[in-house]
Amino acid sequence: MALKALDYDTLNENVKKCQYAVRGELYLRASELQKEGKKIIFTNVGNPHALGQKPLTFPRQVVALCQAPFLLDDPNVGMLFPADAIARAKHYLSLTSGGLGAYSDSRGLPGVRKEVAEFIQRRDGYPSDPELIFLTDGASKGVMQILNCVIRGDGDGILVPVPQYPLYSATISLLGGTLVPYYLDESQNWGLDVNNLRQSVAQARSQGITVRAMVIINPGNPTGQCLSEANIREILKFCYNEKLVLLGDEVYQQNIYQDERPFISSKKVLMEMGSPFSKGVQLVSFHTVSKGYWGECGQRGGYFEMTNLPPRVVEEIYKVASIALSPNVSAQILMGLMVSPPKPGDISYDQFARESKGILESLRRRARIMTDGFNSCKNVVCNFTEGAMYSFPQIRLPPGAIQAAKQAGKVPDVFYCLKLLEATGISTVPGSGFGQKEGVFHLRTTILPAEEEMPEIMDSFKKFNDEFMTQYDNNVGYSRM
Ligand SMILES: Cc1ncc(COP(=O)(O)O)c(C=O)c1O
Repeated sequence: MALKALDYDTLNENVKKCQYAVRGELYLRASELQKEGKKIIFTNVGNPHALGQKPLTFPRQVVALCQAPFLLDDPNVGMLFPADAIARAKHYLSLTSGGLGAYSDSRGLPGVRKEVAEFIQRRDGYPSDPELIFLTDGASKGVMQILNCVIRGDGDGILVPVPQYPLYSATISLLGGTLVPYYLDESQNWGLDVNNLRQSVAQARSQGITVRAMVIINPGNPTGQCLSEANIREILKFCYNEKLVLLGDEVYQQNIYQDERPFISSKKVLMEMGSPFSKGVQLVSFHTVSKGYWGECGQRGGYFEMTNLPPRVVEEIYKVASIALSPNVSAQILMGLMVSPPKPGDISYDQFARESKGILESLRRRARIMTDGFNSCKNVVCNFTEGAMYSFPQIRLPPGAIQAAKQAGKVPDVFYCLKLLEATGISTVPGSGFGQKEGVFHLRTTILPAEEEMPEIMDSFKKFNDEFMTQYDNNVGYSRM
């Protein structure tokens, strides 16, 4: 039979190559089981509202008024909405050229970009230029835009941490580039060793690859580690020496669950390093409304800030952003609200502070419950989730289980996660979807299930795991640590 213009055989090979584990086999099986009526606990995606987190009141009040501006003309509006929400809605509407139904500038509303720049300046103590900030439909779109500008072909390599968030591997495949892995060290709480980076770059170069950029995810997904200032400084020096653009994925900057290493942005560290680094290292930093205590994943709001990119490059990035006309305008307003939330003394401040503190404190407790729960299981070891929204335990699989997986035609960690799903309804992502060292197995869960359900979830995990281990245990030849 003649091939159609768009047949599987004629599909762009890069599309076929691209893998996206977070919505892969496990997710599909979980969706099937759900349709069959089984209760599924979706811990595969960092999607807080899907697991019951309530939206923060103030930002939703403002966006609701922006969506329905006729309410602002209603004489009773003050009975439903606080005065500061009404004032903010009027402020944001005045920044648009026709409300939420009108396209904005392709870089985002200038007024919101100015608010983002002011936030960065307050956070870091160094100036930020709104002209170098682009608003995007979630951080993902920003990452894709920048990788699209960097990758010219398969000779271009991007250093990506392993384990990594599959946005990076998938986008690099789609764009036809080459992923150059550098391994995070599990025995050092998923720390980053610059010597590993050197080795990765040397190896890639020996294969004729031009390494062009490096990704860091801080705090880490799926690994949950928070980089120290000293570590970021080393990375920036490395990028300077090796002439790499640093892509700083900082979407979890509000999600910190330890006090020793508060979040510090790559931009701040860079500025503090002074000359020649502060003017020499090219950096693009990403942020989002999807994470933190906001968790507004469905709204699709994000931004990136460019440092030390030449004006002609910024112009070209603007040109390419213009192809999609405009980022989502209501999400731009949410971003504006995220970077300039109610201040002490504002009518809505107390409620906003109470709600956000409640979410963050609960996440911190959940991070602890999960880590402790995993570490109480047979053949499971787990680093503490210092930040972000995930737990990434290592599962030491007995040879019997590896053998059984082979017979079932499954990768061992996929086999384990499928069995876990069938037995408990807990839907996780196998570590192989994020990359891991050969012969080592993990899974990723989010720490997002409701706190009151957490003990029961961990009990049911432990029961499954310990029985699984007993079933396949013959005490020899475990997958290595
Ligand atoms: C490390 C990392 N970067 C980027 C994103 C994408 O976020 P967004 O919803 O803003 O596109 C995620 C989402 O989970 C993430 O974990």
